[in-house]
Amino acid sequence: MGKLTNKTAFITGGTSGIGLATAQDFINEGARVIITGRHSETLNQTVASLGPNAFSIACDNGKMSDILQLPERIKAITPALDIVFANAGYGRFAPVGGVTEAMFDELFNVLVKGTFFTVQQLLPLLREGSSIIFNTSVVTAYGSQNASIYSAAKAAVQSLTKNLAADLTAQKIRVNSVSPGYTETDIFNKTGFTAEQITGAKDYITPLLPYKRFGTAMEVAKAVSFLASDDASYIHGAEIVVDGGYSVIR
Ligand SMILES: NC(=O)c1ccc[n+]([C@@H]2O[C@H](COP(=O)([O-])OP(=O)(O)OC[C@H]3O[C@@H](n4cnc5c(N)ncnc54)[C@H](OP(=O)(O)O)[C@@H]3O)[C@@H](O)[C@H]2O)c1
Repeated sequence: MGKLTNKTAFITGGTSGIGLATAQDFINEGARVIITGRHSETLNQTVASLGPNAFSIACDNGKMSDILQLPERIKAITPALDIVFANAGYGRFAPVGGVTEAMFDELFNVLVKGTFFTVQQLLPLLREGSSIIFNTSVVTAYGSQNASIYSAAKAAVQSLTKNLAADLTAQKIRVNSVSPGYTETDIFNKTGFTAEQITGAKDYITPLLPYKRFGTAMEVAKAVSFLASDDASYIHGAEIVVDGGYSVIR
């Protein structure tokens, strides 16, 4: 028996990277999984690769009209949920003088507003004993160049972790987050930087990492599966950092 047997999970942004690895691990642990993403074709391909315990709903985390439809669309698949992994997101990076209002609004809309209202809308579907996991980021632990708005948005999600934990204790819903360090996913290819800039950044960062390598999406997924499972029954309002020690070792 897997540690998520008989549980049904909802993962935002499950078509690649950390969300996809988590969907794979949840299914390996016995769960049924509903994933979201913005593109139906990608979702269909991903569900086909995940197998019969995977389902999908197209939903843009930055669009309230999509988010408000989620409860009805989930009910067409399952009457209730046990796990929510609020993971969907991406980064936009610029020095402080280069940040535009549009970039600010876009990141806070997708990473903070969409994440909050997704969880709010799903609350009536969550069984007693459910687990909510947010995806923050290790960038919140220190200052880094060009990351002011991405980091501020993720810090807001850190705050949601603690405050929703307080609000949902009475409903016996646990709320935690996972804070990934540098993790090998598609996120870097979607930043708007050139391939050369991305390679340059990775070459600069890798020697600074304690293990001299990026983490894998599955290494983050394993922490999410733990938080989702009853093994984490006394972990509430916490953040597990999965960064190979980067934020604490110098
Ligand atoms: N990789 C890292 O180093 C790292 C470190 C710390 C935190 N994180 C966080 O981890 C999360 C996942 O990122 P990743 O690294 O796994 O990147 P990824 O491989 O690019 O995956 C991002 C996922 O989110 C989905 N997504 C993006 N924008 C969306 C939107 N508006 N609505 C719905 N789905 C959306 C993407 O699906 P579609 O494109 O198909 O819509 C995709 O499934 C993000 O919140 C990111 O900030 C990543």
